Amino acid sequence: MKIKNICCIGAGYVGGPTMAVIADKCPNIQINVVDINEQRINDWNNYDLKKLPIYEPGLDEIIKRCRGKNLHFSTDVEFNISIADLIFISVNTPTKTQGHGAGQASDLKWVDASARKISQHATGETIVVEKSTLPVKTAETIKNILKVSNKKNKINSLDPKKFYVLSNPEFLAEGTAINDLINPDRVLIGGDEPNAISALCGIYKNWVEESKIITTNLWSSELSKLIANAFLAQRISSINSVTALCEATGANISEVAMAVGSDSRIGNNFLKPGPGFGGSCFKKDILNLVYICKHYGLNEVADYWKGVVNINNWQKKRISQIINEKLFGTIAGKKIGILGFAFKANTNDTRESAAITICKELLIEGAKLSIFDERVSYEQIKSDLKDKEDSILKNTWTFTKDIYEITKNADAIIVLTESEKFKSLDWEVISENMRSPSWLFDTRGIVDIKKAMKNNINVWSVGSGDLIKKNIY
Ligand code: NAD
Ligand code: UGA
Repeated sequence: MKIKNICCIGAGYVGGPTMAVIADKCPNIQINVVDINEQRINDWNNYDLKKLPIYEPGLDEIIKRCRGKNLHFSTDVEFNISIADLIFISVNTPTKTQGHGAGQASDLKWVDASARKISQHATGETIVVEKSTLPVKTAETIKNILKVSNKKNKINSLDPKKFYVLSNPEFLAEGTAINDLINPDRVLIGGDEPNAISALCGIYKNWVEESKIITTNLWSSELSKLIANAFLAQRISSINSVTALCEATGANISEVAMAVGSDSRIGNNFLKPGPGFGGSCFKKDILNLVYICKHYGLNEVADYWKGVVNINNWQKKRISQIINEKLFGTIAGKKIGILGFAFKANTNDTRESAAITICKELLIEGAKLSIFDERVSYEQIKSDLKDKEDSILKNTWTFTKDIYEITKNADAIIVLTESEKFKSLDWEVISENMRSPSWLFDTRGIVDIKKAMKNNINVWSVGSGDLIKKNIY
């Protein structure tokens, strides 16, 4: 099976960067990324590369090289399906908000709609690849939907279409997506059709070492993606649970993480403490895993993984309570500067960002927030801070692109994202700007706290139990 034309349904954080890298590495393949969101497609086609819908380091250069040559962005889903040899389904799979399984199960309506479109409009032999993160066994549903078009074609005595369904989950992380795609730890392909598997392997072999391309059965591949995310999130909840213990005992989380992570069996990745993991996937994927476990009657397994999400929620709540306590039990009317709103550095994505929960809690207590983020827009923050009782949150926060503006007359500053910029702030200027007693809350443990303290700023840094007694107040 020779792949000359690829269609990717979904021009989001995965579809866009992934197809850009495939286009860059496979100049002989034409790639059409399609989406029903017209604005998003217009943004991908924007002449000004600073206005692409997604910020990822290095992405703009690839778009510049490939767009209009072998990489195209379009809203014409049907036509681009009809000419494709291989179709990636890369649509969103968020947690269901209503109906059966609400709050835990994945909402598969966009995957279902994509499969139906493929079944109607594909022609000849087509490889259908699950790129979205999906509950184990979804490939069965996709195969069933695709079978329907074959039945109809047979009745109308047209040439039957032939579909091969593969699973090829994506492991990129935002902020490092291009590097992750170019140098993946592994590429995972699940399926039971050797020719289709070898055609998909052939694409990756253009730049990925063969030893890094793992093939498994469909269900192992689908499940491995959920489990990989669950393991990563579990490490963060583990280290965050220990931050509270460090604060209670006088231990220091960076020392503990270093000592523990130096054991090569444990390793030192994903041991950075923080305000709780965010991002569109960890929480939804674990909740989905919990739902699947319950479906199979594995309640103890479900409870085990649910604990990872519980600790994450607890960490966010714990931090907003500490801020309130340190500021003499009331933050009503006090100005608090927020450094970073995205869920991590080097992205404009705010989905499930701990900043949303923490800022909302502070606003509900009556604080006035001044928010800085180098990549997130005012409109995005406005939409994230909107509440059912909008009135409580209205007009009590401002947004600025001037980092020092947020410190003027502020009672406290909270570092919520691990941006490089926050590591080298001018604490002398900040101290003069702030109202006394002034507080710095470093939820990432990245700030030069010695300099801040030297300038008479009280510091709380996550998991730094050794700091607590050194403050003035
Ligand atoms: P996203 O919301 O950024 O993009 C999904 C896009 O699909 C949207 O633009 C939406 O309009 C489009 N879409 C939905 N239904 C469609 C349809 N029927 N036809 C055409 N377009 C349609 O989502 P994302 O972050 O790219 O995530 C996509 C999938 O990849 C999810 O399953 C996610 O769990 C998984 N994933 C995400 C990441 C990440 O870093 N964001 C990493 C690995 C895996
Ligand atoms: C994560 C996984 O790392 C990817 O492999 C996966 O493909 C992706 O989810 C997905 O399926 O969506 P992402 O959410 O983009 O990627 O970013 P991460 O680097 O994993 O960070 C997630 C959250 O955990 C962020 O809020 C980050 O600040 C936090 N984190 C990460 C910590 O608090 N400590 C750490 O040590 C690492």
